[in-house]
Amino acid sequence: MTTTRGLEGVVATTSAISSIKDDVLTYRGYSIQDLAEQSTFEETIYLLWNGELPTADQLQAFKAELAENASVPNELFEFMKNYPLETVHPMAVLRTAISTLGIYDPDAELMDKQSNKEKAIKLQAKIATLVAGFARIRQGLQPVVPNKSLSYAANFLYMLKDRVPSEVEAQMFDKALVLHADHELNASTFTARVCVATLSDMYSGITSAIGALKGPLHGGANEQVMRMLERIGSIEWVDDYILNALENKKKIMGFGHRVYKNGDPRAKILKTMARTLSEMSGDSRLYDMSLKIEILMKEKKGLLPNTDFYSATLYHILGIDHDLFTPVFAISRTSGWAAHILEQYNDNRLIRPRAEYNGPRLRRVTPMAQR
Ligand code: CMC
Repeated sequence: MTTTRGLEGVVATTSAISSIKDDVLTYRGYSIQDLAEQSTFEETIYLLWNGELPTADQLQAFKAELAENASVPNELFEFMKNYPLETVHPMAVLRTAISTLGIYDPDAELMDKQSNKEKAIKLQAKIATLVAGFARIRQGLQPVVPNKSLSYAANFLYMLKDRVPSEVEAQMFDKALVLHADHELNASTFTARVCVATLSDMYSGITSAIGALKGPLHGGANEQVMRMLERIGSIEWVDDYILNALENKKKIMGFGHRVYKNGDPRAKILKTMARTLSEMSGDSRLYDMSLKIEILMKEKKGLLPNTDFYSATLYHILGIDHDLFTPVFAISRTSGWAAHILEQYNDNRLIRPRAEYNGPRLRRVTPMAQR
């Protein structure tokens, strides 16, 4: 048997959802650049789940379905009030909340195609409400009731702050959701597929995926980027901090990628968006620090930023709490996870690889008295 550490380069499945080829990321054959410029997050979700972009009528019906399903059982918010609000991480809350959501769905165990598609809609609709609701609860505030007249992106920002966002804020956030929606067989998507390939239910699949996304080598990196920028504090400390970290063999969050070697195409778009918003806000401190880090990392390590690097600055300017950055990633990626889960169910085989054993050889059990 041959082993590949971290399954690098291993092709584990076929999929028609998204592709990374020659450093270009496409969803169902459309480049993310094109989708970010020409479509909305709702259109992108529809595309991921159905293979085609919606017509105007299909989009209207789909948006209505999402809006109709956006509220969550009040019990979930009541549970949250009893969590250790001072210390609990919102990703841990989200992991628990999605699992709990399954308990309240009478159709959770139904496995026919229609029920699974309905569950995808419920999960996508409710996850934004859960994240925003928890953000309010931990501030001692009531969750904001979803506003059916707003887009998915605008409604999330509205539920977070109890204020309808400006058009620019909603548009920027919408594009960020489009850019994070899917990413081939990343760790959390693979986790979701492994889970449901046992024919477990969709809530289990998404809960597992959230657990995998939470780690700092994956989705958790965006929050860590922000923490690093805070720790550095000012552009004149960038060199000291980065050079010292590299000397001590520490990883710089938001850099490097398993698949992209010439740069993450999402990072390039997010960088432009972060610059635009920084200029508009009149405060380019984080953007300027980020730019300096990018130049230094390229020079010293030949590493380029990934999607998590500039999204940190973007989300900060949008006024999103730093520990909500990864839950925001989960909100977007739920669309991709659900697409992959549906695809897995459609042509399922148990995912069960092997491990090359390198432990002790066959041994005999020593009786307790002689150990
Ligand atoms: N900072 C410093 N050195 C790095 C970094 C980094 N961010 N990334 C990779 N390296 C070095 C690493 O130390 C190693 O060097 P050496 O060969 O001398 O030991 C070499 O590059 C290869 O790194 P690796 O960790 O074996 O690469 P990988 O393909 O296993 O990991 C990665 C990919 C993204 C986990 C890694 O680049 C990393 O840890 N980056 C920081 C965390 C991060 O930003 N994660 C978000 C990933 S993109 C969004 C997502 O999909 O969630």
